[in-house]
Amino acid sequence: MTSHPSASVPLAVVTGGSGALGTAIRSRLTESGWRVIATYRTRRPEPAHSVGHTTWVRFDAADGTSTEALREAVTAQPGRLHAVFACVGAPSSKRPVAETPLSEFTAVHEANALSLVSTWHAVADRARRDSTAVLAVGSDAGQATRANNGPYSAAKAALESLVTTLAKEEHEHGVRVNLIAPSLIDSPLAAHVMALKGVTDPVEYFARLPWGRPLVLDEVAAACIELATAAHWSYVTGQIYPLGALR
Ligand SMILES: NC(=O)c1ccc[n+]([C@@H]2O[C@H](COP(=O)([O-])OP(=O)(O)OC[C@H]3O[C@@H](n4cnc5c(N)ncnc54)[C@H](OP(=O)(O)O)[C@@H]3O)[C@@H](O)[C@H]2O)c1
Repeated sequence: MTSHPSASVPLAVVTGGSGALGTAIRSRLTESGWRVIATYRTRRPEPAHSVGHTTWVRFDAADGTSTEALREAVTAQPGRLHAVFACVGAPSSKRPVAETPLSEFTAVHEANALSLVSTWHAVADRARRDSTAVLAVGSDAGQATRANNGPYSAAKAALESLVTTLAKEEHEHGVRVNLIAPSLIDSPLAAHVMALKGVTDPVEYFARLPWGRPLVLDEVAAACIELATAAHWSYVTGQIYPLGALR
């Protein structure tokens, strides 16, 4: 683990920091001089892919000991915890509910919704002290319920409910909690999901999206960081922001 001793450098937690969006958020933050505590579950990125001051913690939503490890990592860092970016997520297998095992519902719920609960258990004390902004990454699937995506849609809907609940519970501590719900992002996860859906022509699939293209990781990362950290968003809490989808 590497850490930066300066308390004046802003600090953020990025859960799911090893994923595609987590990497984009982490890179933008560290390039701007932030210290980042980032989590991975199965694949810890090589040092070459960790620019700036990144402290890596293994974090699994289903494992209480890793919640404690995240708490310890946050406690060990000086200065103010400005922001928490909750980027953990996992897709469904794209089958109808009738053919989806209960264990998949449990695992997908754990990754997409309960990961925010574990994260909050790890950071709540510090976040209350520091009036931290929490930005959870949902999905347009949380509201645009589609056939053959039951576990994911249900989990992202639950995540939205958790975000608005937390915003109300933590408002008195100056903590803000919001959610950005992107539509398809050009990413390995999207490629995996398209393969599960049997998409053979991604270009044609992308052309049918509202803007004729998927979102780009860096533009989603920029929106997440702006919403969590820009002074002109400092009055916003308990909000769900769709990104890219037509409602
Ligand atoms: N990509 C898209 O098109 C898209 C669109 C809308 C919303 N989203 C949402 O955006 C977020 C980031 O997506 P992404 O494309 O960056 O996905 P990704 O590359 O698959 O990254 C997912 C991250 O979550 C971690 N993770 C998975 N299950 C976990 C668990 N049970 N406990 C703890 N960590 C776990 C992964 O860790 P390891 O890899 O180390 O195991 C990884 O860091 C997700 O919430 C996703 O649902 C994505």
